Amino acid sequence: MLEFDVVIVGAGAAGLFCAGVAGQLGQKVLLIDHAEKVAEKIRISGGGRANFTNRDLDPRAPHKHFIGDNPNFCRSALSRYVPADFTALLTRHGVSFHEKHKGQLFCDRSAEDLIQVLLRECEAGGVTRWQPCTVHAVSHGAGGYTVDTGNGSVCARALVVATGGLSIPKIGATDWGLRLAQQFDLPIVPTRPALVPLTFDEAAWAPFADLAGLALPVRIETGEKKSKGAFDEDLLFTHRGLSGPAVLQISSYWRDPQPLRLDLLPTVDVLAALTERKHTSRRLLANELATWLPSRLADAWARLDPLLQRPINEVPDKALARLAQSLRQWQLTPTGTEGYRKAEVMAGGVDTKALSSQTLESRQPGLYFIGEVTDVTGWLGGYNFQWAWASAFACARALASAPP
Ligand code: FDA
Repeated sequence: MLEFDVVIVGAGAAGLFCAGVAGQLGQKVLLIDHAEKVAEKIRISGGGRANFTNRDLDPRAPHKHFIGDNPNFCRSALSRYVPADFTALLTRHGVSFHEKHKGQLFCDRSAEDLIQVLLRECEAGGVTRWQPCTVHAVSHGAGGYTVDTGNGSVCARALVVATGGLSIPKIGATDWGLRLAQQFDLPIVPTRPALVPLTFDEAAWAPFADLAGLALPVRIETGEKKSKGAFDEDLLFTHRGLSGPAVLQISSYWRDPQPLRLDLLPTVDVLAALTERKHTSRRLLANELATWLPSRLADAWARLDPLLQRPINEVPDKALARLAQSLRQWQLTPTGTEGYRKAEVMAGGVDTKALSSQTLESRQPGLYFIGEVTDVTGWLGGYNFQWAWASAFACARALASAPP
């Protein structure tokens, strides 16, 4: 039987990076993936340019950008491999990048450049890669792990699970990592789609369905106290509901049947502005509203509220106050999400209570979990890739320093 120091299952962001680092630290590494192509999620990420990290990440305060049952779990790994470490790696390989919005870093040319960096790092570490290759079964005995694969059985002292989350099953996502955790009696935090568009009851959404494609900046909130999420981002109307960065972000915090609270005019004192117009204008209230709101949205609002079809100077102050309040606190309750087919990530996963925050080893000796398969979910904006790099790095270092 072929022998390795470590077998890594999943050649995505975390698996490739872990394999390269561990190989270069002297480990004999086998990397296995069942998909035809390596790192498909990196390839499609960030509109093809991979938003691979975020400069605003604060490793000392991971709860600001990560969710999970214990958001502080990721502090150790995130502080030992920071965004600047990854950008230094790209620079060493001659890959240029740029900052977009709120600290988000993207490849200048293509996500493919990033994949090539990871493959070259694996090559430098002498990593053996089997792909496509199915893993049939895993067992553990005195000598370590035996992994039965489509290419035959191999054994290794350590096994790293880097099979990612459940989103986008058509490019290779599976629940293999979660099932393996269960095989070794490790707890799982219930999983759900995150960074995902939200949907509404068809009849309730009908007045807004025509607005598909319309975008505007909003403030969006859900939940209370510790479980509260709040974002100032762009909202996008879709045929079935809402999307755009504001909604993708809030979806990670949203729990059925909680309502969302939207401020459609976060930068305007709308009551003061309407009161001022009342004294100077005789135009319809809907037309006045279109000064600040996209006119299609003002029209949709007017179809729901006859008040908006009256000249603004005839509208009572109390009614203006009510309207201002409803625009600043539009409360609506999604009925669901677009699911893993459209989600960028999975929330939940292998419970971090069963993992070491220093090494990512589970309480099952020699079995490690890295990347998205763990109950660590980052915000939109490069945080999920940074978790993949940082958890992979911590794991690789631990593999190299483990006694033979
Ligand atoms: P990843 O999914 O990268 O890799 C898992 C690997 O395991 C895959 O290669 C898969 O084939 C393999 N695998 C699964 N089951 C297996 C089995 N049974 N046997 C063998 N192999 C198996 N994040 C970010 O920070 N910035 C961004 O711009 C984006 N953009 C983005 C866009 C879209 C459309 C999606 C779907 C996701 C993103 N993300 C993102 C999220 C990011 O892609 C994700 O968090 C990381 O890829 C997670 O890295 P992992 O290595 O954990 O899993």
